[in-house]
Amino acid sequence: MKDFSRRKMLKLSVLGGLGSIGIKHGLARAMALMPTPSETEGPFYPVTSQSDKDADLTHILSKKSKAMGQHIVVQGQIREVNGKPVAHALLDIWQADANGRYRHPGDSSSAKLDENFQGQAVINSDQAGFFRFITVMPGAYPANKDWIRPPHIHFKISKAGLRPLTTQMYFPDQTLNQSDWLLRTKSTTERLAMVARHAGLEGNLPIYEYNIVLDLLD
Ligand SMILES: [Fe+2]
Repeated sequence: MKDFSRRKMLKLSVLGGLGSIGIKHGLARAMALMPTPSETEGPFYPVTSQSDKDADLTHILSKKSKAMGQHIVVQGQIREVNGKPVAHALLDIWQADANGRYRHPGDSSSAKLDENFQGQAVINSDQAGFFRFITVMPGAYPANKDWIRPPHIHFKISKAGLRPLTTQMYFPDQTLNQSDWLLRTKSTTERLAMVARHAGLEGNLPIYEYNIVLDLLD
């Protein structure tokens, strides 16, 4: 064998070794998505049973009138950190109504409860990991005398084999985001992942896109 060929073969075998151990591992790590940051469940997880938990929170099936406030679409995709879509994940979603009031006995706010707002939805992602629901832009509300929570939607997401996630989704262009005691503890990268983005209109409803990344179990 000529020197050239031997050198070439040696180089290829070294690269092959690195590829199977170091380079591939490094690339896989570099390509991994950041898991969506978790956040507290807060005090208003629904405790009152309700039969209607479908993907349209603006309409309670037994009622004629729709919820007050700006109706919006929230949609996105759930993926694992390796990019694989998470099919049939369970999403438990709850939020304040347009007045900033939760359907919860512990909410002592003086804001009027919108009796036509569903308050909670329990839905699944589809085969490709996508989810979609219609709701209202939640109102801001006081957490205490020095702290106004910006509009946000609470999520609990679970899927067998993946780490369950409890978090909160925020809205772009909300000045209260900057002063929120929860959101401001996050890094810039984390905040970017927690704030939905404008994604056009569906009819006359603004669409907010919110993509979620679930971590693997240890
Ligand atoms: Fe909340």
